[in-house]
Amino acid sequence: MDAPRYTRVAMALHWLVALCLIGQFVLGWYLEGIPRGVPDRSYFVNIHKSTGMLIGLLILLRIGWRLAHRPPVLPASVPDWQQKAASVIHFLLYFFMLMLPLTGYIASNFSKWGVKFFNTIEMPPWGMEDKAIYAFFNQLHGLISWILLGLIILHVLAAVSHFVSGHRDVIYRMLPGSSSGR
Ligand code: HEM
Ligand code: HEM
Repeated sequence: MDAPRYTRVAMALHWLVALCLIGQFVLGWYLEGIPRGVPDRSYFVNIHKSTGMLIGLLILLRIGWRLAHRPPVLPASVPDWQQKAASVIHFLLYFFMLMLPLTGYIASNFSKWGVKFFNTIEMPPWGMEDKAIYAFFNQLHGLISWILLGLIILHVLAAVSHFVSGHRDVIYRMLPGSSSGR
């Protein structure tokens, strides 16, 4: 019998969010490399803020959907400690996935710039201009980006190790169009 698999919606949300996050990381690192004061910088920062807010909404949708749907049980051949580790890592992935756009959004609202959505729509900040609060949330945003990256690497290594150790069902559960791997 085929192992239970994630639904199409779960797979679509998983891979869409994964792709968006990777693109957003690249954009974040790219803008860190643009010298301050160059006009292009604010253009790219606003693109990053705008796509980041949209990805944040997508992540909220994903978490909402996940809370209403139980994931399929893992094959019994996966040891108990690995099942527990997977639950903890998945929880942390969701948590930091949400905190990353949230800290960026909060930081932006304590600077006088706010967000210029896709460089066209001004979204005036709802907070006062405060350099200390801005710096705090901005640094938290940077720190969380590295924590999330570490968790993603751990997650991918776990997936790859299941694949090489013969537990291929675990990967096929999240891949569209494939059977249980047999
Ligand atoms: C930005 C990158 C990624 C993030 C944030 C992410 C996040 C997650 C989360 C939160 C889950 C848990 C789903 C649930 O049960 O609620 C999950 C499951 C899964 N992910 Fe990812 N993922 C990413 C990339 C990848 C990649 C690149 C692979 C493949 C190498 C992968 C393979 C899987 C598999 C196989 C599962 C199912 C695990 C299971 O059956 O318990 N993910 N992912
Ligand atoms: C899921 C979404 C997001 C990801 C993956 C992400 C990722 C990143 C990364 C990797 C950096 C570079 C950090 C560093 O190396 O110090 C960064 C910087 C930044 N991000 Fe995000 N971010 C996201 C969402 C947002 C949102 C929603 C906002 C604001 C509305 C935002 C505002 C910023 C700002 C202002 C910076 C610093 C730019 C500067 O140096 O002036 N980010 N982000």
